[in-house]
Formats: sequence, C-alpha cells, structure tokens
Amino acid sequence: MNILVVGSGGREYSIGLALKRDKNVNDIYFAPGNGATLNLGKNIEISDYRELANFAKERGIDLTIVGPEAPLVDGIVDIFKERGLTIFGPSQKAALLEGSKIYMKNFLKRYNIPTAKFIQTGSLEEACEFIDSLKEPIVVKADGLCGGKGAIIAKTKEEAKKTAEDMLINGIFGEAGKRVVIEEFLDGFELSVFAISDGEKYVILPAAQDHKRLLDNDEGPNTGGMGAYAPTPLMSEELSRKIEEKIIAPTIKGMKEDGTPFEGVLFAGLMIVDSEPYVLEYNVRFGDPECEVLMPLLKTPASELFYKAATKDLDSLNIEFYDKYAVGVVLASENYPYSKSKPAEIIIDEIVHEDLAKHSHISFAGVSLIEGKLYATGGRVMVCVGIGDSIKEARDYAYLLTGQVHFAGKKYRSDIAYQALK
Ligand code: AMP
Ligand code: GLY
Repeated sequence: MNILVVGSGGREYSIGLALKRDKNVNDIYFAPGNGATLNLGKNIEISDYRELANFAKERGIDLTIVGPEAPLVDGIVDIFKERGLTIFGPSQKAALLEGSKIYMKNFLKRYNIPTAKFIQTGSLEEACEFIDSLKEPIVVKADGLCGGKGAIIAKTKEEAKKTAEDMLINGIFGEAGKRVVIEEFLDGFELSVFAISDGEKYVILPAAQDHKRLLDNDEGPNTGGMGAYAPTPLMSEELSRKIEEKIIAPTIKGMKEDGTPFEGVLFAGLMIVDSEPYVLEYNVRFGDPECEVLMPLLKTPASELFYKAATKDLDSLNIEFYDKYAVGVVLASENYPYSKSKPAEIIIDEIVHEDLAKHSHISFAGVSLIEGKLYATGGRVMVCVGIGDSIKEARDYAYLLTGQVHFAGKKYRSDIAYQALK
C-alpha cells in the first residue's frame, strides 16, 4: 500500500513510524511533514486539498490518513472522497464535533451524554447571569478552534465575566469567540479515550493520560500537551464499561442517526468525577502527544487498522496491542507556549546503552532540516518515548533518552506519568 499522511507534527511522525514497520506498506508520503519525516518517506509541499487529491490520484495512493483537525474541519475528507480516494478521517460535518463547542455541547445534550452543565450564548448579559448561578471556579470557552487556548478556567465570577467580555465584546479570539460556552467546573482526573470508528462500528484503544500544563505538578499555562503515557491504571474495568456505554456507543450511534456518521478517530477528553465519566471535549483526530504513546503499543499493522476503518470494514478487524507501557516526554523549545524561539541545532548522542536503544525512540515534531542539520524550529520539538513492562520502566527509558538530546533552550516536565506512579 502507498500511504499519504497529512500533517507535520510528532503525531504524524509516530503514525509514520508505525507504517514504516508494517510489511504491507510500500511508499509513505507526508504533506507537509517535517525535517525528520524525510527519513520515513517523502515530504510533499502541496497545501491546496484539491491539488493534494490530484497528487494522490497520480501517485496511486491507496490510503490517506489525516493527522490534525484543521484540514478535517476544512473538509479535506469530503474533497478526497468526491475524487474516489480512500481517506481516514471524519467528514466536514462530523468534524464539527471539534470545530464548534456549541454544536458538540448541544449534541451531547440531545443524546443524554454526560457533560458539564452549560449555556451557549453570544450575549454578555446572558453569560453574566449564568456565571452568577454557578459555583467558582467557572469555565469560559470560545466556540471555535483556538489552537488549544480557547478554554479559560476563571477562579472568580468577576474573572469569568471579564473573560466572557474579552471574547464577546473585545474579540480576543476573533470569530472563534463571537459565541461562548460557559460551564461548571468539574473536579476530577482527566483521561484521553480514543475510539476508531467506521461510522457504525468502533474499537477503543488503551486509555492515555496527557499533561496539558507547562510545568511540573500541573502548574503554569495550558499547552498542546507536555507528555503522555498509556495504558493508564486509572482506567478500571468498570470505568471502561461506563465510558463505552454512556459515551462512546451513544456518540457513534447519535452521529449516525444525525446523518453525519463519524469515521476516523473520536478523541473523548474526559473528566472522571467520583468514578463517573463526563465529556469535556471531543476532538476528531488523535491527541498529540497521546498518539506518540499509542502507536508503539499497536500490534495490529497500522495500515490494516486505518484502511479497514476507512472502508467500513472494522467488523473484520482483530485489534491487538502489545502488553507493554509507553511513556512520552515532550521536549519543547525555550519560549513555548508563549512565542517563537530562535532555531536551535539539535545534537543527539549516539545511544550506546543497548537496552535504551531497544526500548526507546524519538517522535520528531517541530524540527527542520537546514543545510543537512536538524534544527528545533517549532514549539514542541520532539517526544522521547520509552517502552517498558511497567510504567516506571517506560518512564525511566523515556527520561534516559531525554538526556541524550541537546538543543539550546530545551525544556520538559520531569513528572510525566506521576498520577500513575504516586
Ligand atoms: P478544552 O479546550 O475544552 O479541551 O479544555 C482544555 C482543558 O481545560 C481541559 O483539558 C481541562 O483540563 C480544562 N477544562 C475544560 N473544561 C473544564 C471543566 N468543565 N471543568 C474542569 N476543567 C475543564
Ligand atoms: N493532547 C491534547 C490534544 O491533542 O488536543
């Protein structure tokens, strides 16, 4: 099979790595890819989706896998399908689950799927009234996509009102904040649960946990994610059953009933409060860095999983995972997540420790090849992944690997997987 992966991050790199070890895969293309995906396949500089579909036709691409949300929300899947191409990902309409918080919250309400109590409004007056009816802290979210920065947790009612005003009146998020969702704060622990669906059937992957805050002990600002591990022992058999029954199954069924069947990866961002799961958000793609710890655990050939999901054939899939743990530590650049950093050359020591070489690898993200040398040019530069028979072992390998990588301004959290190890 020839496969095209759309995206340029560590998530897409990790999908590329899984495809690379898959015997059914011949050529791998990345659009646009990064400075390291060149080692896994070819990078394609085509940003127009129609032109990219032409490319896929000409090159005999058998399957396209879309990594990030933006192309999905823009309708890349619809464009490829119109051309008769096989593509893994949701349609533009189904991608609204991530593209619009208001659509998502209303969907959950209609199908009785547990989520935080909320209102959605474009009126500051209504927003303030609802804020007054809630206990502090209070969550204020912009309706549209804001690169992970659109959810503000306000400690006080005053701060919540000010945030709503900033979004609705002062336009700090532009169009994305023209309408807002105000919701109650849920106090529990977070899980990332991924279901791969062909529109009707689905398979659920091992549960992962992300670390969204920049600093140790979950302090500092929200980021795209500073590290992840899977599977998490915070998931019990009973919780897993509840998540499937109360959240995943009704969502897949509801999307089908609505005439917008969900094909692709449904990423449920959950808060578990007193052993009950609530949906915080839906994403319509893999989490990053969650994907980087899930892909190495996948025993089933990746091409088979994605191809069967993209061709309504999940029934015939027997999905298997290695009985191992994976921990991924994000190495970020100096000014992440505030501003761009100066490009910094990356030096990776030769790994002489045999066990480390065997049990760890890097998923490259914000890197560019400049005159033959690898530079850190993005916010999240790479994910150091360790694999082990326990979370502790996997974590130790991941951190050993971080010590082998050098670039100016390198920073990372030192407590990834702490919730599983305390
Ligand atoms: P979102 O953009 O909706 O994914 O929210 C980003 C992050 O904000 C989540 O991962 C949570 O850590 C936090 N968050 C969002 N909504 C709530 C809520 N209702 N209660 C508590 N934390 C929340
Ligand atoms: N790791 C969270 C996300 O990808 O949105």
